[in-house]
Order: sequence, then C-alpha cells, then structure tokens
Amino acid sequence: MPSAPHRVLLAEPRGACAGVHRAIETVERALQVHGAPVYVRKQIVHNEHVVRDLEGKGARFVDSEEEVPAGAVCVFSAHGVSPRVRDNARHRGLTVIDATCPLVAKVHQEVVRFARDKDTLILVGHVGHEEIEGTYGEAPERTVVVGSVAEAGRLDLAPGTSAAYLTQTTLSVDDTAEIVAVLEERIPGLTGPGSADICYASQNRQKAVKAIAGRSDLVLVVGSANSSNSVRLVEVARAAGADARLVPDPDLIDAAWLEGVGTVGLTAGASAPEALVERALRRLADLGFGDVETEVTATENVAFRLPPELEEAGTSDGAGAPPKRADAHADEETCGKLLDRVDRRIAELLSAEEARWSAVDARVAVPVAAVAELVAAGGKRLRPLFCVTGFLAAGGAAADEDTVVDEDAVVDAAAALELLHAFALIHDDIMDNSPTRRGAPTVHAAYTDLHARRAWAGESRRYGEAVALLAGDLALSYANRLAAGLTGAAARLWHELVTEMIIGQQLDVALAAEVEPDPDLARWVAVCKSGRYTIHRPLALGAAIAGRPGLHGVFEAYGVAAGEAFQLRDDLLDAFGDATVTGKPTGLDLEEHKMTLLIALAAARDPRVARLVEDSRHADWDPAELRAALLASGVGAEVEERIDALVADARTALADAGLPRHWRLRLEELADMVAYRDR
Ligand code: IPE
Ligand code: IPE
Ligand code: MG
Ligand code: MG
Ligand code: MG
Repeated sequence: MPSAPHRVLLAEPRGACAGVHRAIETVERALQVHGAPVYVRKQIVHNEHVVRDLEGKGARFVDSEEEVPAGAVCVFSAHGVSPRVRDNARHRGLTVIDATCPLVAKVHQEVVRFARDKDTLILVGHVGHEEIEGTYGEAPERTVVVGSVAEAGRLDLAPGTSAAYLTQTTLSVDDTAEIVAVLEERIPGLTGPGSADICYASQNRQKAVKAIAGRSDLVLVVGSANSSNSVRLVEVARAAGADARLVPDPDLIDAAWLEGVGTVGLTAGASAPEALVERALRRLADLGFGDVETEVTATENVAFRLPPELEEAGTSDGAGAPPKRADAHADEETCGKLLDRVDRRIAELLSAEEARWSAVDARVAVPVAAVAELVAAGGKRLRPLFCVTGFLAAGGAAADEDTVVDEDAVVDAAAALELLHAFALIHDDIMDNSPTRRGAPTVHAAYTDLHARRAWAGESRRYGEAVALLAGDLALSYANRLAAGLTGAAARLWHELVTEMIIGQQLDVALAAEVEPDPDLARWVAVCKSGRYTIHRPLALGAAIAGRPGLHGVFEAYGVAAGEAFQLRDDLLDAFGDATVTGKPTGLDLEEHKMTLLIALAAARDPRVARLVEDSRHADWDPAELRAALLASGVGAEVEERIDALVADARTALADAGLPRHWRLRLEELADMVAYRDR
C-alpha cells in the first residue's frame, strides 16, 4: 500500500481575533503610558503564553481587583466584568483601563435592556466562565444560566413568565441552536438574538475547522485548556468526524499522535497568537509534515479601537499625521491604517444605530443587525481599498503644512462605498434569488426561514424580502449619511456612481427577462452595474478628495478596463467557481437567465449554446445542459483572453499618468488581484 501523503491543512480564519489583538495591545500600551507594574484582573485572554509574555514586560496578573494596590492601574480582561467589580475598583481608587471585547460589551447592554422588559433572562453559556460571571452580574436577580440541552429541558418557569435569552460569545453555533430550540419550544413568546451573540470570530473559526475536519485524519487546535472557544473548536472538529486534540503548547506536539496520520488539520482558538501557530507548523515540519495547504472559508477585516483611556493618552493609531514623504512603505502603512479606520467607522455607526433602535424595541433593530452581519461576514472591501488608494496615489497624505488634507473625509467616503455595496448586494440577492452571500444565508433567505420556523402569519417569502428591502434601504441611507460631507466634484461623483449602479442593475434584470444575449449590451452592464462603482468611481472619488481631479481621465481608463475584468471574473466564478470559496452559489446566473458576456460570447460562437439559451424561455429548460454546453464551447478560454487584454489595457492607462512609481506598481498589482481572484 502506498504511504499516506504527509501534509498540514491549515484553517483560515484561525487564531487571534480583533478583540484579543486589542486586549493584548491594551496591556502593552498601558505599560508604555503608565510604566510597570500594570495590574491585570484575570488572564487578559485565556492563553498562558500571552500571559507569560506580558508578565515578562511588567504586567501583574491578579484574580481579583481586591488584590490591586489602591490607586494603581488595573486592566479588566477581554471577557468583561460585572458591575460589582467596577464598583469595587472605583472604591479602591484604581485607574481602570477596560479591555472588555466590544462584542462582549454589546451583550452586557442587551442584558440590561432585556432585564428592564422581561421577567426572566436566560443566559446560554458556561457557569464559572468569566464572561458569564460578568454578564450574569448585570441582572443577577432575574438571570438563569443554561449550559446544555438537558438544563434547558429542566428549566422551570412559571406560566406567563416573559423571558429573553442571550448567549456567551464563544459558544458552538450548532450546540447553541439546539439549546435555543428547546427553550423556544418550552417558553412561549421567548425572544433572543438567535446565534447573533456568538461573535464573528467564533463563528468563522468553527466554519473553518468544519471545512478542514472533513479532509483531515487528526485536527490540532492550538489553544489553552481554559479557552472556551478553543475547546469548542475541538468539539466541532470531532462532531464533523475527525479525531481532534487541544494543543496548549505547540512545542509538545507528540510524534505518537501522528502515527498513521496522512493529513493533519491545524487551527487555533481566538486567544492564540499567530506566533504559536507558526511554532506548531515548525514542529509539524520537524515531524515530517512540511507540506502546508491553507483552506480559506472567510476573510476578516475587523479591528477595534483601543480603550478611550489610552487614546486620550495620545496613543491613538497615529493616522492623524500624514507622512511628509511619499515613500512606498509609509504609504502602505497609511493605507492600512485608513482602511482600519473605515472598518471602525462602519462598525461604530452600525452599533450605535443598533443600540439606538433596539432600545425602542428589539424588532426594529432587525434590519440594522442584518446589515451589520453582512458587513461582519467579510467581503474583500474592494471599494474602500480603491477609494483610499486613489486618495493616496493622488498625494492625499503627502501634503505640506499649508494644504488641508482631510483624512476623515476619505475614511467617511470609503465607509460610504462599503455600505452602498451592502445595499447593492442585499437587493441584488433578492433580484437574483440567491440563497447565500459571504458564506452565510442572504438576508431575505434568513428572514424567510425565520418566518417559516416561527409559523408567523402571512407569506414567509414576502416577510423575508420585506426585511431585506428595508435592510438594503437602511444601508443606502447610512451610505448617504456618510457621504453627506462630500462637496463639489466629489459629491457629483458620489451621486453619479449610485445612480449608474442602479441603472446597470436594471439592464441586467431586463436582459435576463427578455433573454437577449448581446455582447455589447452585456459589456455595458458589466461596466455599469459593477466596474464603475467598484473601481473607477472609488479611485476618482479618492483623487477628488485629495484635490487632484486631474487624475480622473487616468482612473477612468484604468477603472473601466479593470472593472470589466473584475465582473468577467465574477461571471466565470459564478459558472465554474467553487461556492465554498466564493461564499455564493455556483450556477445561479445560468438558472436566473443572466445574459452575461460569457453567455453572449458563447452563444455567438456556438449554435448549440445559442439554441439552449433560446430554449431557456420555456419552463422545461435544463440549466445543467446549458452549463455543459458552455463548458464544451471553450468560451472560458476566450473570456480568460479577454480578461488578460483588459488587464493589459489597465496597465497601459497607468503608463504615462505621472503617478509615483510605487503607486503605479500597486495599481498594477490591484488590477491582477481583481482579475485573477478566486472569490
Ligand atoms: C460582488 O462584489 C458583487 C459584484 C459587484 C460582482 P464583491 O466580489 O466585491 O463582493 P464582496 O464585497 O467581496 O463580498
Ligand atoms: C451584482 O452583480 C452587482 C451589484 C451588486 C450591483 P452580480 O449579481 O453578478 O453579483 P453577485 O455575483 O451576486 O455577487
Ligand atoms: Mg445581479
Ligand atoms: Mg447576484
Ligand atoms: Mg455574479
């Protein structure tokens, strides 16, 4: 028998999440600002290596705020604390720096809100875990903790008790769904967030570990034994059929575990820094597992601002001071910082709106939460990327003292573009009848499903679409709010790009209904519904904000070519891509009669395809047959050539534009990135 290949299948996303990065950086910054020792109440995150490392830098970890000397600096850990702990710290005169993860803080607010309206609050989570100690402490007199299906089954509430449930942020999505189902069955009128309290990082890591578990003989999860989310990853991997182990110390991975193993899956809990994963990879390579394949199931762009106590101390992200010299490295760093600010801007706006409306009634926050979930589910953030790139390439950050460069304006505009995109996607998924987006159910599908499960009155689909229409409308309204500060050429560009995207969508829908495969019209649709608002206009908008409208011609030529290539790739991915990578269905354009350039070119070159397209007017047509004919027609290669030519056009447009060399190279790279992506 041939010996099994020895390789590592690495999950992505994995490891440290935004809340953990923020908590660790909080302690480091607190040490810089206040000097050692800085006291930290409990482990800052549940990872012994992190704790040891910070101890080395001067942090002192204590179990209780009572152990901190009066007047000293005390950091609260990422898991959050109860109001009693806050009061104690105040009475002791401690200088508190709160590193509670913003997503845990959100659950605290929900507890407070529900405790006002409901008789009983059910916290789904693990007794003894610090996060539950903190949230429980918000309303101990009316809260019960439920940790399992059995406990949910035993819960004994008096008839007529009004109740709501909330969950720990690091639970298993599947186990929680089972517990919630039992609670819903037993408690009439129960309300709650579904799986929405389970944070994006836990959800993404569970999805990723499921994906690798199916292809691995053994899954290793780097994480400490007291890390709830890490232990959940081991359970999820086991439930998916793999043998799995928690690995608190990567250097101690044992050769005996690997006997008879061909593929080792590797991931890490949200409290484990990437350095530990790298150590695990080195150890595995030493044991003969040097071949590494990464399986990507989602991308994450979440980042949180440091606690205000530290920002006030002058240690903010530093994006305020533009670099004076436009050198490549500084520009790249500025670009990254501005994009981080864009994500934070969106998260702040949406969480403020969610808090504001949920204070009125949990139901009215539903479409806001739907937008927030779509944004948190990932996406490539191409529009903010091009907007910020246009701004910087036009010299936005390299102005001298006399020029007012408004970085806030570009951050707002880029955030507006991503929310406009959320609007476009949510409505597009209704129009295209799509069940999935960014690896999760689309908004209309999720709420159609909820309506059906709850057996609410009326048609489930109409309800689902109503929620999605409203969520999309809200996203557009927020986008316009963020764009409201734009003036002059920038304001005109904004209005133009919103309008032309909608107009492009109309022609997309019309050509599908009329079954009209026309290469020229298809090309126009691709550029109008997608290329312009994704690449051309964001670049131009960035340049306009930087005060360099002179670059518009260059950005139009580049953006239209790269934009068409982007949409052609989207069409190819729809027809032949991998849904687990794109996060949206394969074959949907065919089912929905989309007259893409791919179809139009194939119909022009192959009479069989033309006939099948024509037949698709009739109810008994078969999309699978058309897909097979499309493959056989060889049109894939023709479209690939067209994409190559468009990328070459995009490069040519940059050639004599007078852009700084490193920006020209960067834009060339970006054209390749959008044209040859696999998701
Ligand atoms: C998808 O856009 C919709 C199109 C315009 C083709 P993206 O491919 O940029 O989607 P996300 O934002 O990464 O999810
Ligand atoms: C949608 O194009 C473009 C907009 C969202 C404006 P598609 O319908 O091809 O996008 P996907 O494939 O659903 O992401
Ligand atoms: Mg569409
Ligand atoms: Mg679509
Ligand atoms: Mg598409």
